[in-house]
Amino acid sequence: MKVLIVGGAGYIGSHMVKHLIRAGKEVTVVDDLSSGYRDAVVAGAELIVGSIANAGLLDTLFAQQRFDVVMHFASFIQVGESVVKPAKYYANNVLATLTLLDAMLEAGVSRFIFSSTAAVYGDPSYIPIDEAHPKNPINPYGRTKWMVEQVLDDYDRAYGLKSVCLRYFNAAGADPEGELGERHVPETHLIPLVLQAASGRREQVSVFGTDYDTPDGTCIRDYIHVADLCEAHALAIDYLLAGGESARFNLGNGQGFSVQEVIDTARKVTGRNINVRYESRRAGDPARLVADSRLARQVLGWEPKRAALETIIADAWSWEQKWPWGPTV
Ligand code: UFG
Repeated sequence: MKVLIVGGAGYIGSHMVKHLIRAGKEVTVVDDLSSGYRDAVVAGAELIVGSIANAGLLDTLFAQQRFDVVMHFASFIQVGESVVKPAKYYANNVLATLTLLDAMLEAGVSRFIFSSTAAVYGDPSYIPIDEAHPKNPINPYGRTKWMVEQVLDDYDRAYGLKSVCLRYFNAAGADPEGELGERHVPETHLIPLVLQAASGRREQVSVFGTDYDTPDGTCIRDYIHVADLCEAHALAIDYLLAGGESARFNLGNGQGFSVQEVIDTARKVTGRNINVRYESRRAGDPARLVADSRLARQVLGWEPKRAALETIIADAWSWEQKWPWGPTV
């Protein structure tokens, strides 16, 4: 089985590449290294440095190699940036994705796995959020993901392109073997920031808002281990290869933890002091986001194995302690 992974040098993509290489699959990565790292692509995978906006590169690649499935991890992900630079998000997350889909159709590749997000739902009208929840994204980032999902529905109807969209809640953690992890620049995600404060790489971590309608006043999120995300993707490949219809699945643990609980757990796991600065709310943060992921469990047979917050934080902590991580940092 041969898989094309676009964005395979980034955080989640690189874990996916390793997962598939370990499972004996052939993997080709296309990544422009704008936020990925050459050394995050494990040995055994082929890396082509280039952009999915480059139709010529894609046509050549699809003419040379026959892929059973394409996986897309090459989107920009910063909600705040998407508000001030929407053009960047629509160009990459939507337009470049269309270029990729066109190249696939041209080459007769008909299976696609897409990294979507809980941001397609916007402010939740009920919790836990299932796949049928109304889609009202409240920022350009979420809208780009929802647009692609809708494009994929149309492409299935018109061209028979089968897709699985996986709506991640809060992806976190790192490769349990310590080889890979999160290295966003700038880092905006809570768990790595908390651990940078624990390691001393950062003086403190900010808590954005203490007056939410939650038990301790801080926001609640559903943190899901990157290794569990990869397993869900691998099951999605099996599902599509077995002839499965296009489908959309939430990926989360179904259990929410507050920002304060994350910090308290990180103090326990690391045994370190973590300085906290309590600040006002960050724009656009819903109080609670918790997934109902029963559909992925039922249809894909997915079972998160590293669900405990302690495990997620412990794996991310092993990775943080390896800083500076590699030759390209
Ligand atoms: N937070 C802090 N301090 C920080 C960073 C974050 O208090 O320094 C808080 C946020 O306000 C939020 C929680 O920690 O309440 C988690 O924040 P993250 O930035 O780690 O993650 P988000 O929930 O904002 O975003 C995630 C994904 C997005 C996706 C979104 C879906 O990273 O890609 O979920 O709504 F769009």
